[in-house]
Amino acid sequence: MTSFTLNGKAVTVDIDDDTPLLWAIREEAGLTGTKFGCGIGMCGACTVHVGGRATRSCITPVSAVEGAEVTTIEGLDPAAQHPVQKAWRAIQVPQCGYCQSGQIMQAAAMLKDFPAPSDADIDAVMTGNLCRCMTYVRIREAVREAAA
Ligand code: FES
Repeated sequence: MTSFTLNGKAVTVDIDDDTPLLWAIREEAGLTGTKFGCGIGMCGACTVHVGGRATRSCITPVSAVEGAEVTTIEGLDPAAQHPVQKAWRAIQVPQCGYCQSGQIMQAAAMLKDFPAPSDADIDAVMTGNLCRCMTYVRIREAVREAAA
């Protein structure tokens, strides 16, 4: 049994402590915006915020977020007006879209640490979020726009 805050609401999930947070979010809470890609922490599709930090939910045991504040793409901004989301729409970043919630969550967390990121900062932070459609150029442009 693990209790945490999910997008501002208290939740308790009665699942094995070792269950990845990703499955608590998708299967228990029914929030499917967070995606399963590799399951081994290598692609970033499952990125959420835990205590405001970008976190790979596929390799985070649910028990590790006991008492923590977890935010998913659905909770980043309930009206989808976060500067990163606005920039993503303005630049039309997604192609297939599968990795994009993870990209957006990673970018939103990054802007807290780098409010005016250089291209090198963007590349360094976003490099672990893979996109098979190769939207990287637009991702960089959108992060710059979100920071502006
Ligand atoms: Fe978690 Fe790929 S699904 S990093």
